[in-house]
Amino acid sequence: MKRATGRAPGKIILVGEHSVVYGHPAIAMPVQSVGAELVTELSRNGGVRIEVPDLKGDAQAGKRAVEAVKRLVDRMLGLFREDAQGLTLSVRSDIPIACGMGSSAALCVATVRAICDLFGRHLADEEIASLAFDGERIFHDSPSGIDNHVVALGKPIYFVKRKGASPIKVGPTAFRFLIADTGIASPTAEIVAEVRESHVVDRARYDALFWEMGSMSSMAREVIRARAGSRAELGMCMDRNQELLRSLGVSCDPVDRLVVAAKEAGAAGAKLTGAGRGGNVIALLGDDTDEAALSAALRAAGAKQVLEAELTPSG
Ligand code: MEV
Repeated sequence: MKRATGRAPGKIILVGEHSVVYGHPAIAMPVQSVGAELVTELSRNGGVRIEVPDLKGDAQAGKRAVEAVKRLVDRMLGLFREDAQGLTLSVRSDIPIACGMGSSAALCVATVRAICDLFGRHLADEEIASLAFDGERIFHDSPSGIDNHVVALGKPIYFVKRKGASPIKVGPTAFRFLIADTGIASPTAEIVAEVRESHVVDRARYDALFWEMGSMSSMAREVIRARAGSRAELGMCMDRNQELLRSLGVSCDPVDRLVVAAKEAGAAGAKLTGAGRGGNVIALLGDDTDEAALSAALRAAGAKQVLEAELTPSG
């Protein structure tokens, strides 16, 4: 019996969530310390069996995951002109669900990779991202596409909807982040839909907020690429982005508490990441930030888990 595996990391958005849905640029990076893995096996028994043991406690998420994997499998069997008599697919993931870390995108990319591996086909990462988008649509209303791109490419990206992703070459400065989980699940589709309704009612104000968020992304990209990239400057872009996200109405008290705690503990910048109203907060370490003290401050302010991520110089 043939067996194959596909994997994908988690992700965080550094600058530009929500505004990215309206065509403005955003920056995202992979988080390699967490990930999704999909193992698939051809069997003699007919039919497709999908197991999502990590989602047993969350019926809704489990249902969507099964639906997304099924859609991707059907699409890929058609693309490869293969007819699987029997196929078992089993998903494992340690990416927090509905917390802004790309759990659904990672599941979709891992599925596409596993099916490629099963039939010995090679697809470019860009093609994998495009195929995975089909599954992402099942989870989220009308996603921008940033999540499937960053987890498929596995690199920091500058992303513009319908134009795609450009990898960012990181300059000589390393940027280190702590990722603090509020423990509050926040379904992206619902929050994106609420923002859309508010945008319809108050278009000029929302467009101005989105526009400034996009400018923060462009500025942040310059800092990350610069020969003397300053953590303080990237932190300023993140702080301003957080203020704009608050004005958009997607922050909440547990997020704000973590942001304030991060700043008081010396973070260069701190903001929510992903859709907001819970999920995760990212804190950028400044030149003199004590990482252990920052991590302790985040936990004391309510973080259920603290992960790490780093933008390392491209060399
Ligand atoms: C996705 O992680 C964050 C949002 O910008 C939605 C999207 O881009 O599809 C809120």
